[in-house]
Amino acid sequence: MLFKQQVWLRQKLLVLGSLAVGSLLYLVARVGSLDRLQPICPIEGRFGARGQADFPLRALQFKRGLLHEFRKGNVSKEQVRLHDLVQQLPKAIIIGVRKGGTRALLEMLNLHPAVVKASQEIHFFDNDENYAKGIEWYRKKMPFSYPQQITIEKSPAYFITEEVPERIYKMNSSIKLLIIVREPTTRAISDYTQVLEGKERKNKTYYKFEKLAIDPNTCEVNTKYKAVRTSIYTKHLERWLKYFPIEQFHIVDGDRLITEPLPELQLVEKFLNLPPRISQYNLYFNVTRGFYCLRFNVIFNKCLAGSKGRIHPEVDPSVITKLRKFFHPFNQKFYQITGRTLNWP
Ligand code: A3P
Repeated sequence: MLFKQQVWLRQKLLVLGSLAVGSLLYLVARVGSLDRLQPICPIEGRFGARGQADFPLRALQFKRGLLHEFRKGNVSKEQVRLHDLVQQLPKAIIIGVRKGGTRALLEMLNLHPAVVKASQEIHFFDNDENYAKGIEWYRKKMPFSYPQQITIEKSPAYFITEEVPERIYKMNSSIKLLIIVREPTTRAISDYTQVLEGKERKNKTYYKFEKLAIDPNTCEVNTKYKAVRTSIYTKHLERWLKYFPIEQFHIVDGDRLITEPLPELQLVEKFLNLPPRISQYNLYFNVTRGFYCLRFNVIFNKCLAGSKGRIHPEVDPSVITKLRKFFHPFNQKFYQITGRTLNWP
């Protein structure tokens, strides 16, 4: 009898123990990472946050849970509003460059508890049809956040589209602008690879990179080819500088973000006047993917989609040399204007 009772008690304790561990793990997964269980510092001045920008971490974690429920349809907009959640215009925008690592940068910044990302590319400023819908339309596309948080969106087409600087200036002349760049020839090949993949998916044939990048008549670099033009960073930046001072831009080294993301992210935190919160814990190298992936907590982690980190086709070395020589003077000018030397060949 006593033995039976002991077995019953042991089983009960086992069930209760498993339930407790399970609930704990569930809670950790839902509310945020363990390494964030520390009070968050106020976000310093510049953003003009409403009231004192000191918001407890638990509130942030609760917010994430609440938004998750909202998306699942389990809570109403009214409940979200009652918790002081608002849709805010971005305080910072990743304006480009296409294939520079814009998605990785946005996702990595989103690890910071004071940052909220707009998941989709909104294409508000570069698309006339969207722009005509007005700023309220744009704001409604933004995720819910606390007033003290900052919203960030990324649309890489902004960097190269003529009308965009003026339009963004009209919305907020003191906005912070992030530009992530990669070595220009590598970026152009990455750009080509993306288009090539699209063509192949539709069973279409496509030109070789060499044929597009080099003008067959002159044997010079073909500046009419969009992938080449986009990589002349200084030309585009000069248009932006007609509206914004250089201090409002921060250049992210996209090649370093691949190999050593943390220091690059720390520079961005500084530029955005955010307390340093992204740590090595949040980033781990995934050997299978060949890239750093994101760790939110002990349970939840993610790598970027397979469309990020494609294998590039082999390109004739003489074409690469020609392109690098072509970009060299533009790169020098870019370093000079931005004050960031990237040691590209
Ligand atoms: P490739 O596909 O040429 O390797 P964007 O998001 O602007 O389209 O940039 C895509 C590029 O981001 C990829 O180019 C990839 O090299 C780079 N990247 C940087 N960090 C990455 C990461 N952690 N995971 C996957 N891709 C990353």
